[in-house]
Amino acid sequence: KKRIVSGVQPTGAIHLGNYLGAIKNWIALQNSYDTLFFIVDLHAITLPYDTQQLSKATRNTAAIYLACGVDTSKASVFVQSHVRAHVELMWLLSSATPIGWLNRMIQFKEKSRKAGDENVGVALLTYPVLMASDILLYQSDFVPVGEDQKQHLELTRELAERVNYLYGGRKWKKLGGRGGAIFKVPEPLIPPAGARVMSLTDGLSKMSKSAPSDQSRINLLDPKDAIANKIKRCKTDSFPGMEFDNPERPECNNLLSIYQLISSKTKEEVAQECQDMNWGTFKTLLTDALVEHLHPIQVRYEEIISDPAYLDGVLAEGAEKAAAIADATVNNVYQAMGFLRR
Ligand code: TYM
Repeated sequence: KKRIVSGVQPTGAIHLGNYLGAIKNWIALQNSYDTLFFIVDLHAITLPYDTQQLSKATRNTAAIYLACGVDTSKASVFVQSHVRAHVELMWLLSSATPIGWLNRMIQFKEKSRKAGDENVGVALLTYPVLMASDILLYQSDFVPVGEDQKQHLELTRELAERVNYLYGGRKWKKLGGRGGAIFKVPEPLIPPAGARVMSLTDGLSKMSKSAPSDQSRINLLDPKDAIANKIKRCKTDSFPGMEFDNPERPECNNLLSIYQLISSKTKEEVAQECQDMNWGTFKTLLTDALVEHLHPIQVRYEEIISDPAYLDGVLAEGAEKAAAIADATVNNVYQAMGFLRR
């Protein structure tokens, strides 16, 4: 079976962008692939954060995965920091990562500009190396993520190739290979729709956990009235009807796409259904569809989060399975890099 890994940071509330760009797609993939889904708590400390909230947010994120349909009889679910090899491999990879590759990362530039110099730790710069470690440790074939992670995936691929080139050659040639088999080179899986869900208050910027206004996003755990309220107050325009792909109507395109994904209809069906609607009618339709889709997730979430022993069990089992794979990879990398064996 081909392998898939992915993860979400336990920072702030999980929103519709995380769901449509990533988590919802994981569910479809777990039947045909060997899947590992982690909560990337080590990534969550790369910007100032609240130590009182980290463990709670980590649990909540795990509960969201399960509530959304991640099936622990098929997928391993675990916390990144519970598998030591993530940090260990990161160090080894760091030595092979040109600093220029990291300086070029768009997310680093954006996040460091927003945070201000005093708050930019070294880990914000080396963040993509940890992400590469998350992926390469498991010899992953595919990584389902939203559009904003594309550049990090490209770096992961380049780093895998570089390490294979630097340290893989001789060993693998001796074994008859053509060099370069320490790591499998993974591919991103970016969905055709939903890869970039936009803000409710500005159709040109992406929906994000860190946007100051909660009105800009639908969180998966938002109650019905909050959803209704946010959709009611979202940004609209004064064109007649509803349409996809009009560059002058980014908000309209965004909300139609959300409706399409949430209702599992095709783009054509939605275009037809909504073309003659006014904003008021469409907003009601969208609100109802969202509430209907999210309600069962919220009910399951409440069940899962109120059973801590169950959740702990899932995470312990997931970490154990993951560590077995990760330790083997990291040992192999030590060997390929010439370390004295223990
Ligand atoms: P994070 O926590 O920012 O986001 C989690 C996932 O949600 C996707 N996403 C979106 N998709 C569509 N529209 C949006 N507005 C939107 N906002 C976020 C992200 O693309 C992502 O798939 N670095 C990663 C976490 C990570 C990871 C990994 C992912 C760490 N190691 C290894 C995959 C494999 C991050 O910060 O995602």
